[in-house]
Amino acid sequence: MRSKPIGIFDSGAGGLSIWKEINALMPYESTLYISDAKYAPYGSKGADVILKRSIVNTETLIGKGAKIIVVACNTATTNAISYLRKRYKIPFIGIEPAIKPAALSSATDSIGILATKGTLSSALFHETSKRYSRDKTVIEQEGKGIVELIESGQLHSNEMKKLLEKYLTPMLNNNIDCLVLGCTHYHFLTPILKQLLPKNVNVIDSCKAIARQTKIVLEKSKLLNENETKAEHVFYTNGSREVMANLMDWDQSIIHKLY
Ligand code: DGL
Repeated sequence: MRSKPIGIFDSGAGGLSIWKEINALMPYESTLYISDAKYAPYGSKGADVILKRSIVNTETLIGKGAKIIVVACNTATTNAISYLRKRYKIPFIGIEPAIKPAALSSATDSIGILATKGTLSSALFHETSKRYSRDKTVIEQEGKGIVELIESGQLHSNEMKKLLEKYLTPMLNNNIDCLVLGCTHYHFLTPILKQLLPKNVNVIDSCKAIARQTKIVLEKSKLLNENETKAEHVFYTNGSREVMANLMDWDQSIIHKLY
């Protein structure tokens, strides 16, 4: 069981930001990655659709031998992970917007959160936000259109820059000094955001923390691969192989078509 792969899924290529950290931290772990891009964006879909897609992805990964599943998507985590944990026996790791570290480190007591509509409207997000940011100003912003631009290969477009400027303006007017990236796709925006934001604003995402948490759970569950053998990585998408490959600077031949 220890040599089986870690299963990872997202509505698209966003979860590769987590895959990258998992691979860096645990180079001997094999992985299976599903980009469910045909159904992206999850963020504007109803909770029932997000749950259904999460079940399909989970069952595909289990069917291909995954020993643990990383839900590399804030929208799927906040809407579906409690159901998945009840229904399936294997461990699940999820990702939620990093409100706690942002609230703890903010000197201006004002933080911005960029996330999908599906995440911002979820009960889990409300709970976390209430718990950690009670005495802070929190500017929530739906990143409408961002995932679509990334999934259509327009990460570096003018349209993206304009959208981001629009979304950041109310946050900067409220003097934020932390910007939480509440969607795994947004990690790829980091270099652009750093150009648009003043130097005192920290951009926070949870990718490294999720990789560490995955390792802890694998260790506790006695699932961590102890052999220093070459890891195998298989990537699947039901969307564009080219877009996914370009984001990571890969050759698209390593990405397989999925249903
Ligand atoms: N990457 C996802 C997230 O972390 C999903 C975005 C979407 O499909 O709307 O929320």
